[in-house]
Amino acid sequence: MDAPVPALATRAEAAARRLREAEAVLLASHIDADGLTSAAIATTALERADIPVATTFEKQLDEEAIAAIAASDYETVLFTDFGSGQLDVVVEYADRAGFTPIVADHHQPADADAEFHVNPLLEGIDGGSELSGAGAAYVLARALADCGRDPEDHATDGNRDLAALAVVGAVGDMQTVDGELVGANARIVEEGVAAGVLDTAKDLAMYGTQTRPLPKLLEYANDVRIPGITNDQAGAVRFLDGLDLDLKADGDWRTWADLTHDERQTVVSALVRRAVRNGVPASRIDDLIGTSYTLPRETAGTVLRDASEFSTLLNATARYDRADVGLAVCLGERGAAFGEAERLLRTHRRNLSQGIEWVADHGVTREDNCQWFHAEDEIRETIVGIIAGMAFGADGVDRSVPMIAFAHAEDGETKVSARGNARLLRKGLDLSAVMQQASRAVGGDGGGHAVAAGATVPRGKETAFVEAADRILGEQLR
Ligand code: C5P
Ligand code: C5P
Ligand code: ZN
Repeated sequence: MDAPVPALATRAEAAARRLREAEAVLLASHIDADGLTSAAIATTALERADIPVATTFEKQLDEEAIAAIAASDYETVLFTDFGSGQLDVVVEYADRAGFTPIVADHHQPADADAEFHVNPLLEGIDGGSELSGAGAAYVLARALADCGRDPEDHATDGNRDLAALAVVGAVGDMQTVDGELVGANARIVEEGVAAGVLDTAKDLAMYGTQTRPLPKLLEYANDVRIPGITNDQAGAVRFLDGLDLDLKADGDWRTWADLTHDERQTVVSALVRRAVRNGVPASRIDDLIGTSYTLPRETAGTVLRDASEFSTLLNATARYDRADVGLAVCLGERGAAFGEAERLLRTHRRNLSQGIEWVADHGVTREDNCQWFHAEDEIRETIVGIIAGMAFGADGVDRSVPMIAFAHAEDGETKVSARGNARLLRKGLDLSAVMQQASRAVGGDGGGHAVAAGATVPRGKETAFVEAADRILGEQLR
């Protein structure tokens, strides 16, 4: 058998064998794009193996959530895209309630042992950039196909058709490095391409290539700021009008996906010339190009055709208590569920732009080793992490220290999200440790990845939390 991630094969096979013995499985997953795709991959693989499965989604796998899962009376519980960080608590409840936990995750593991634990970090693979929760679920799904009675079911190619969802999860978790998926993720991409469910290309690295009219595509793309185009509606239109191309069809602007290869080349060359002329550094100009991940079985011109747009659609469902809608779309429903997802996407986009505007208006507070803002009730706690990341990447922001964001959560608690970048990682940043230690110091809990992590703290403890985080960051970044 050729495992997609050989280092995880033994763990995946053990977990798959245990799942095969289960009468029924409760699957618990996280409410973001990676969590939804993880769940879709796992449920599909279980159903194909004739193992009944029920799903439940959680914002955070805290003790309360684990207790509820333990009370559900399932003998086998599969955790995807979370579980590692809380493994100590999971194991404690599992022993007490008598269920077997199986974890497929990529978060920093707690100090605990579990028999069935598929996590890249246990085998020296980076969980922040080389394998996502959906990737871990995919590894498990492939093992599950291999230990079935009919090991290579040709219709599904040993579950390789699920690679597309794994890539949507990895892209949704922002795992790309210099514009492309690397390491174990890249192996999954290869399997997806071979199975005919993925296409890759070197292409313009802007969000919205399938659905945004060209001027909006250029205006809203702010990873690389090009004067006179970025955040400049009239400028973007002038730029496109100035090209010797017919970029409208029936009076409407075409999309990037509509353009021919030559037309794309013309636009990219002109963009690069404009950037050079305006003094955009060469290293940033390189960032205009990246690898695109296309799902060729989806309809062209829809959000589902592009992994990045697909992942945003999923975030627009689960982060608004509608994981059922996102999961249905992942499982192939294209009727009412897809319509509802598109409606949720419009709300999500509005919330993101209002949130970013709020941060720009209110500014951030600078400490020695971090910067922070507290959105209180102005930003929904489930998207404050996305906004922290966008604010940290925004033009003119000081990126020498990480960004910490607060928003009010339920039950008198406050949600914290922290975001860093590759440069800070090289200096020693580990936000997972910062969020865990600083939150525990004030009676909360947290964790995540070195580059992006989160926590929940009691309301009123924000100042003490910032002090603790600032001190730990000072030690890390010294
Ligand atoms: O819980 P989970 O692992 O799925 O979430 C990962 C989070 O980390 C996502 O919100 C993702 O956007 C964020 N991230 C980031 N920058 C990176 C890697 C991940 O903001 N370089
Ligand atoms: O919520 P946010 O997007 O900021 O989360 C960033 C990362 O930290 C995610 O991978 C999330 O699963 C993790 N996290 C965690 N424990 C928390 C909050 C977030 O492990 N209490
Ligand atoms: Zn994840």
